[in-house]
Amino acid sequence: MKTEDYTGGDAFQTEKRTVFSGDWLPLCAEAQIGRPGDFLAASVGGWSVFGVRDGEGVVRVLRNACRHQNMQVVGTPSGNCQSFRCRFHGWTYDLQGRFLSAPAPVAPKDLQSTDLHLANLACTTVSGLVFFSLGSSAAAPELGGDLPAYGGTLATDIGCNWKVCVEHLLAEHGPSSDLLWRWPLLAVRRAGALAIVEQIVPHTFLRTRLFTHVFGGAVEEHTPAVGLIKQACEQLQADRTAGTACASDGALIVDFHRRLASAYAQEPAAT
Ligand code: FES
Repeated sequence: MKTEDYTGGDAFQTEKRTVFSGDWLPLCAEAQIGRPGDFLAASVGGWSVFGVRDGEGVVRVLRNACRHQNMQVVGTPSGNCQSFRCRFHGWTYDLQGRFLSAPAPVAPKDLQSTDLHLANLACTTVSGLVFFSLGSSAAAPELGGDLPAYGGTLATDIGCNWKVCVEHLLAEHGPSSDLLWRWPLLAVRRAGALAIVEQIVPHTFLRTRLFTHVFGGAVEEHTPAVGLIKQACEQLQADRTAGTACASDGALIVDFHRRLASAYAQEPAAT
């Protein structure tokens, strides 16, 4: 990896079109949207989406792009509602993303057109985690069986490129029978009755959110550990910005870099 792969927007745009458009991506724990009307919005690798549990209890993942002028319909990270009203001009959608209404001055001509509905993405739930895909034909990743009872989620914003966070998690724990790494954004660690799922959410090329989902234990106990991850990743980002390459040559890191190189190779080099 080159320094600019960790510090520049160009690499992030390449990753949006390659890494993040062709694989199943985690969005959240299913329990984070446990009740009808619960929603959670995120920008994952440059794709703006939101998950919602509809009135029938079905979990959906939709593109967060209004059919009027393509602006974000959902402007808050999470909450509960009965419908989604776009804050720009008032187009309104139900919990399944179907167009409901719009103010007369900006109303579409054909109110029955299915083109007015928000785009539903392929989504599935695996071991209590919600995944979505923009185009993968592969099966969703399995996570080594059921996880213990959900204990909660810690959300941590880190000032680093998402790849720094992945490298830190993989280098820190190394390959073992207790660590499952699921390209590109998920690591599952098990220790006895406890399972920790680290979910990386690449918001921008220098801003990453880490969801630490705790299964089989109390979430508060993990706050100090997550603080250390944030501290370490921000230091590593400073190192990468200064030109220091990733020092780890562990098997998981090597595999991560190999898959990245393969994804980058899907796009012709700029001339
Ligand atoms: S962009 Fe959503 S209502 Fe205009």
